[in-house]
Amino acid sequence: MQAQHIFVFLTLCAIPAFAQSLLAVLQENGFTEYAERLQGDPILSAGPGLIVYTPTNAALVGNGNVTVTRRQDAGSDNSAENSYGCVNATAPRWVDPAEFEGDSGAGNATLRKKQVGPSGSVYGTLLDDPEWVNLGPGRNQTIVEKRVPTASLPLVFTGLGASVGVAASDIPFEGGIIRPINGVLTLPRNLSYTLPFLSAERFGAALQNAGLFPDLDNRAIITVFAPNDAAFGDANNLPDAQLAQLLREHVVVGFPAYTPLLVGGRTYRTLGGSDVTVSIRDGVAYINGARILAGDAIIKNGVVHTIDRLLTTQSPTTPPSSIPTAAATTAKSLSWLAFVFTFVGIAVAALPSV
Ligand SMILES: *[C@@H]1O[C@H](CO)[C@@H](O)[C@H](O)[C@H]1NC(C)=O
Ligand SMILES: *[C@@H]1O[C@H](CO)[C@@H](O)[C@H](O)[C@H]1NC(C)=O
Ligand SMILES: *[C@@H]1O[C@H](CO)[C@@H](O)[C@H](O)[C@H]1NC(C)=O
Ligand SMILES: *[C@@H]1O[C@H](CO)[C@@H](O)[C@H](O)[C@H]1NC(C)=O
Ligand SMILES: *[C@@H]1O[C@H](CO)[C@@H](O)[C@H](O)[C@H]1NC(C)=O
Repeated sequence: MQAQHIFVFLTLCAIPAFAQSLLAVLQENGFTEYAERLQGDPILSAGPGLIVYTPTNAALVGNGNVTVTRRQDAGSDNSAENSYGCVNATAPRWVDPAEFEGDSGAGNATLRKKQVGPSGSVYGTLLDDPEWVNLGPGRNQTIVEKRVPTASLPLVFTGLGASVGVAASDIPFEGGIIRPINGVLTLPRNLSYTLPFLSAERFGAALQNAGLFPDLDNRAIITVFAPNDAAFGDANNLPDAQLAQLLREHVVVGFPAYTPLLVGGRTYRTLGGSDVTVSIRDGVAYINGARILAGDAIIKNGVVHTIDRLLTTQSPTTPPSSIPTAAATTAKSLSWLAFVFTFVGIAVAALPSV
């Protein structure tokens, strides 16, 4: 009895001064609006190792109209919204691209814990509601935090292409840290719902016409390179089969290629069977030479990046569509040879009829 009392006493003494409950630290630091919304939430007793992305009071009430719109977009389920802001930093949070090489499929996707990279961080959240996440069994929804040249603060990328800024330094609490943000996180939707928010409506309309949405909206893990409207141009004029193939070549399956995971020289297989290759120049990511304009729009089942041109061009000045425009790095010269031979073959075949 006596020993037990002493043990409890010592344990209490050993708790550092900042080890207060989430609610207490939120109140003490003026995050009263968020604290109020967290009442009764299981997150209050969760931890350790959490990063709680905490909207400032101004974000929740000041810019009333912006916030209300986003909250409505995100649905009225406050607990889901709160969960999306809570990141488990001790949990595996980093997808190892090597796990997704080739055609290994989504089924074996595993999360690996790794150091936060220089270009940003990919975190698993506590959001596991199937209404907002479809990344395969046991995988919660994701958040990307990174710095961009146009903003002085790191940005947190969420659904519908929305991002919010990290507003102040981290504040410790007993279950982890509070990271203040200057807006409300937007819950992810499916691809078809998201594309109009990204100025990629032509690409979206083409996917719709080609009947590809039911498949793309329900697959477990996809990365979509969405040409913006200017880049998509009049590709809709292509013959149906050619257009459908072109569209599939803009979707990588089985790997959620959040920008912090992109590695120069890495190649991914598309739904169209082609390979796309990542390159990084001056800190900007390119896919087959197409520049990523806006990255990391989180969708229910993966991520969308808008790009500044089509990944495969079908105009007469470029190689025929049967020739991959970019193959795996190791196969590049071989593809080029194949193109030369095909070209010669056509020329020879045409001669007798002249
Ligand atoms: C919010 O919207 C309403 C109606 O659209 C408008 O009257 C009001 O001025 C807006 N408030 C702010 C803070 O923009
Ligand atoms: C966070 O992740 C760790 C390691 O996977 C796990 O043990 C813990 O239960 C998680 N915490 C919450 C609140 O989900
Ligand atoms: C997934 O992993 C299992 C067990 O390691 C293996 O048997 C299976 O072939 C893998 N599936 C794919 C599609 O790689
Ligand atoms: C996923 O979310 C659930 C519910 O919030 C949580 O219990 C679980 O620990 C989370 N998984 C990870 C790996 O953080
Ligand atoms: C995509 O999401 C929207 C809005 O949540 C929904 O109405 C639509 O049915 C979804 N489409 C598919 C194919 O799941």
